[in-house]
Amino acid sequence: MPSIEEVRLVSSGTEAGMSAIRLARGFTGRNKIIKFEGCYHGHSDSLLVKAGSGMLTFGNPSSAGVPASVTEHTLVLEYNNPTQLEDAFKRYGDDIACVIVEAVAGNMNMVPGTPEFIHAMRDLCTRYGALLIVDEVMTGFRVALQGAQSLYGVTPDITMFGKVIGGGMPVAAFGGRREVMEKIAPCGPVYQAGTLSGNPVAVACGLATLKLIQEEGFYDRLAAQTTKLITGLKAAADVEGVTFSAQSIGGMFGLYFLPQLPTGFADVMKSDGKRFNLFFHEMLNRGVYLAPSLYEAGFVSSAHDDVAIEETIAAAKEAFAVVAKAE
Ligand SMILES: Cc1ncc(COP(=O)(O)O)c(C=O)c1O
Repeated sequence: MPSIEEVRLVSSGTEAGMSAIRLARGFTGRNKIIKFEGCYHGHSDSLLVKAGSGMLTFGNPSSAGVPASVTEHTLVLEYNNPTQLEDAFKRYGDDIACVIVEAVAGNMNMVPGTPEFIHAMRDLCTRYGALLIVDEVMTGFRVALQGAQSLYGVTPDITMFGKVIGGGMPVAAFGGRREVMEKIAPCGPVYQAGTLSGNPVAVACGLATLKLIQEEGFYDRLAAQTTKLITGLKAAADVEGVTFSAQSIGGMFGLYFLPQLPTGFADVMKSDGKRFNLFFHEMLNRGVYLAPSLYEAGFVSSAHDDVAIEETIAAAKEAFAVVAKAE
């Protein structure tokens, strides 16, 4: 990954996010951070925050046990809204340490950032001296070998990894520009450490996974399987007249009980939860375990062969028929 000149291994995506934020604050000497509604970056205090009372007011804790004095530095903005981001920089630019984002959001179902939004973010961070943190915990090694950043042609200052990087074992990482990474202890003043960070068994498993996924044609096959799945699901819904849309990038997909693809959190919130719940249980009864929430993205892996995809589509035909009858 060309944007990663130095990397630090940790054990979870949460740690990667918490440390990346600390590093951005240490590097810039600023406190405020910007995150987006519907994006999730782990359960560290400053990131468990919901939007404040106005568009450009600072956030409130979204979990018990998080002091408001911690989240008062976190500004929560609308995803895919470059104008609002620009307004925030105009108002607070000199105090903003970083913007943290999922370039393809996967924690409000799947919502890809628009290229306009992602590039505005890069430009504004550069202009105001803030760091851009792209959270690739979910998208890394999943939407493409070099992550979502390669699809947008954007170079983050810091990138976070988790999930695939450990091949099922507890490995995560954050890395980026050398000038920034050198601020971490012991070279620099930003403290970070962990007993289990980079533990050899987990890293061996992660490295074995990274070798396998570099095989020629791996991502073409993965994307083709995922496309086959969502095309089949959409066709099955259409036959039964169920309002449904779907999309995928690489091995990541979104299924929506909506007439069209969502562009942000507010759209996803309009999904038909009752229909989703019925569909989910009808699929489960037929042996297909989808993510149990309207707000989760789905993943296809290399283990999902043609038989698995065809069986899933066959189950969906029956499940959509049940959903259609229930209306
Ligand atoms: C985009 C993103 N960032 C960070 C995290 C947190 O990672 P972990 O659960 O390993 O702490 C998650 C977890 O789902 C995630 O999806």
